Amino acid sequence: MTSNVAIVTGASSGIGAATARRLAEHGASVALVARRADRLDELALEIENAGGVALAVEADITDRAQAEAAVQQVVERLGRLDILVNNAGLMLLGPIVGADAEEWDRMISINVQGLLSMTRAALPHLLQAADDGGRRVADIVNISSIAGRVAWNGYGVYNLTKFGVNGFTESLRQEVTQRHVRVGVLEPGGVATELASHNSPEIHREMITPFLEQTEILAPEDIADGVAYMVTRPRHASIGELWIMPTDQA
Ligand SMILES: NC(=O)c1ccc[n+]([C@@H]2O[C@H](COP(=O)([O-])OP(=O)(O)OC[C@H]3O[C@@H](n4cnc5c(N)ncnc54)[C@H](OP(=O)(O)O)[C@@H]3O)[C@@H](O)[C@H]2O)c1
Repeated sequence: MTSNVAIVTGASSGIGAATARRLAEHGASVALVARRADRLDELALEIENAGGVALAVEADITDRAQAEAAVQQVVERLGRLDILVNNAGLMLLGPIVGADAEEWDRMISINVQGLLSMTRAALPHLLQAADDGGRRVADIVNISSIAGRVAWNGYGVYNLTKFGVNGFTESLRQEVTQRHVRVGVLEPGGVATELASHNSPEIHREMITPFLEQTEILAPEDIADGVAYMVTRPRHASIGELWIMPTDQA
């Protein structure tokens, strides 16, 4: 995939950073999108020092204008867009009874509205890339979660956002697959990243620590390998859904 251009949202940490590194190793030029510019600059430098091409794009994707400007900047600077990895996300756990509605809004605005804004802005460019030269293909990979298939007590609104991402992915796949834009969802189990760190000490004590004590955990690189697998399939093969689970949960 030597001449491909990829956008990875949430590339400032965890799964996004690992995915950006992996796609760059496969020869893609990688646009790194997130809010923490210092981390994006550091990763871009690392990728360039390893011989790759990277562009740091600071954006808050919950703001539709910033999401659109980010995609525009990538196409202007890197010339095209072949792959969109919608990875940015937030997980805040806890009971629905007595919940803080502001936390729900933050999760919905990142996990759902941010993904929609990036997808909407990227689609015309992805369709154009897939149409270019007749033998190309473009890809959208949405990083959902096993929480997009299974609901648990305390995961309520996180479950809502990820079930929504799964349904949207399937609908969009049916709309654009014949135009050679492959749309797939990747559903990881537990991965060692900063994702849980935004929760309160009580939630860590009651939900997160007990979970971590009783299960194996994946590495961000395991998920990056899954993304790379999906976007490097031959043109005729589209991966609609990929689960990656720790062995003891599979
Ligand atoms: N870790 C797990 O166990 C696990 C399991 C299943 C699925 N997932 C999913 O995997 C994805 C990546 O999560 P992770 O585990 O790698 O967590 P993470 O380390 O917390 O990464 C989240 C990323 O999202 C970015 N982000 C958050 N809000 C943003 C915004 N408004 N605009 C742009 N970027 C934003 C963050 O960057 P900035 O803060 O710099 O903006 C960060 O790079 C998420 O969708 C998550 O739901 C994770």
